[in-house]
Amino acid sequence: MTSTKLAKRTQKLLDTTVIDLLKAAANPNVISLGGGIPASRTFPTLQLARITNQIMQEAPIQALQYHQTAGLSRLRKLIAHQLSQEWGRQLSDQNVLITTGSQQGLDLVSKALLDAKDIVLTNNPTYFVALQTFYAYEAQIQALSLTQAGPDLDQLQAKLQKKKPKFYYVIPTFQNPTGICWSSKTRQEVLVLAEKHGLTIIEDDPYSQLYFSQRPPLPLAASSEKVIYLGTFSKTLAPGLRVGFVVASAQVIRQLTLIKQSMDLHSAILPQMMVAKFLAKEKLYQAHLDSTRQFYRQQAAKLKTLLTQELSQLAQWSTPKGGMFFWLKLKSKSLDTKKLLSLALKLKVAYVPGAVFYVQKPARNTLRLSYATVTPTDLELAVKRLALLVKKAKRR
Ligand SMILES: Cc1ncc(COP(=O)(O)O)c(C=O)c1O
Repeated sequence: MTSTKLAKRTQKLLDTTVIDLLKAAANPNVISLGGGIPASRTFPTLQLARITNQIMQEAPIQALQYHQTAGLSRLRKLIAHQLSQEWGRQLSDQNVLITTGSQQGLDLVSKALLDAKDIVLTNNPTYFVALQTFYAYEAQIQALSLTQAGPDLDQLQAKLQKKKPKFYYVIPTFQNPTGICWSSKTRQEVLVLAEKHGLTIIEDDPYSQLYFSQRPPLPLAASSEKVIYLGTFSKTLAPGLRVGFVVASAQVIRQLTLIKQSMDLHSAILPQMMVAKFLAKEKLYQAHLDSTRQFYRQQAAKLKTLLTQELSQLAQWSTPKGGMFFWLKLKSKSLDTKKLLSLALKLKVAYVPGAVFYVQKPARNTLRLSYATVTPTDLELAVKRLALLVKKAKRR
C-alpha cells in the first residue's frame, strides 16, 4: 500500500528513523546501545516454563477460551492488592483493567479521550511512541521543559491559563529517554495544579520497580484517584507476555473496558494466568525483582565509569537512579547525533539520536544510551567507539 492511500492521520507515524536504526543495529558486528528492550537474561524463563506447564495441565480450557474484556479477575485482584499496599490507597479489581502491554493502555486512553485537534500536554523530550499515539488521534501536542526535578511548573501554569489540554502525559519515574525522576515536591505541586485546573493526568510508569537502591517517590496515582495510571510487566517479567494494566476510578475503568472491546475483545489470557501465578508466589516475585534491580544497577554503574573515563571532556549526563537509560548531551552544540549515526554505524556502535524524542526544538546534540542488553566487555568497546566518533566529528 502506498502512503497516499493511508488516512491522513497516519502521516506522522511513517517516520522510519527508529526502525532503520534498529535494523542497522541488528548487524551482529554493531554494538547497539540504541534498543529500548529489557535484558533477556533477567527473564525468569525456568519459573515461567514450570508455571505454563502447570496452567496447561490444571486449567487448559480457561487458558484457551475467550474471556471477559476487563481481564483475568485473579490478576486484577492481585494488582489491586499489591498497589493498595504500596500506595496506601484502597483499590479493588474494579479499579484495574488488563491491557496488551501499557502501550495499548496509552492507545486506549487516547482513543477514549481525544477528539481531533485536542491539546495533549507532555514533556520535552518524551517517549516517542507516545507521541506517535497522540498524532494518530490527531491531537496537537505541546510540551514543557524538563529539569532534573521534573517539569517546569511556571510553564505548566502558563499552559493551564490558555486553552485547556485534554490531558497531561507524564513518565515521572526514570523517564524514557532521560532517566529523570521527579522529586516528591514537584509531584505534589503538579497534583495541586491539576486539581485546581481540572487537568487529567496520564501517568506512564514502566520503570519505577527498576530502582537501583532507594525506592523512588510514590507515583502521582498514589495520591489521586483522578490520575489514570498505566502499568506493565514488560520490564519486571518479560515484554513478550504483553501484560499491562490501567488503574483508574471504577467509572473510568468501566468506560475504558467498553472501548477496549472493539480493539481486541480481551488481552491474551494465558500470559495473564502466567503473571497471576508468578505474582501469587510473593517471595519468588520479590527475589526476582531484587536480582533484576541488581543487574541493572551493576550495568548502569559500569556505563557510568566508562563514560567518566572516555567522554567527560566531550559530553554531559546525569546518572540515573533506576530504569534503563543514560541521556547524553554532547558539549559541541553544533554536532547533530542523527547525522552522526551513519558514521557511528561504520564504527560499529549504535544509539538513539535524541531528536526523535522531542515535540519541538530538538536538542540535536543529545543521544539516548541503554545499558540493558550489552555485556560489560561490549559496553567498554561501545563507549570507546562513541568517544572516537565524537572526536572524529569535532575534527570534521
Ligand atoms: C515510557 C514507556 N511507555 C510504554 C512502553 C510500552 O511498554 P509495554 O511493553 O508495556 O507496552 C514503553 C516501552 O519501552 C515505555 O518506555
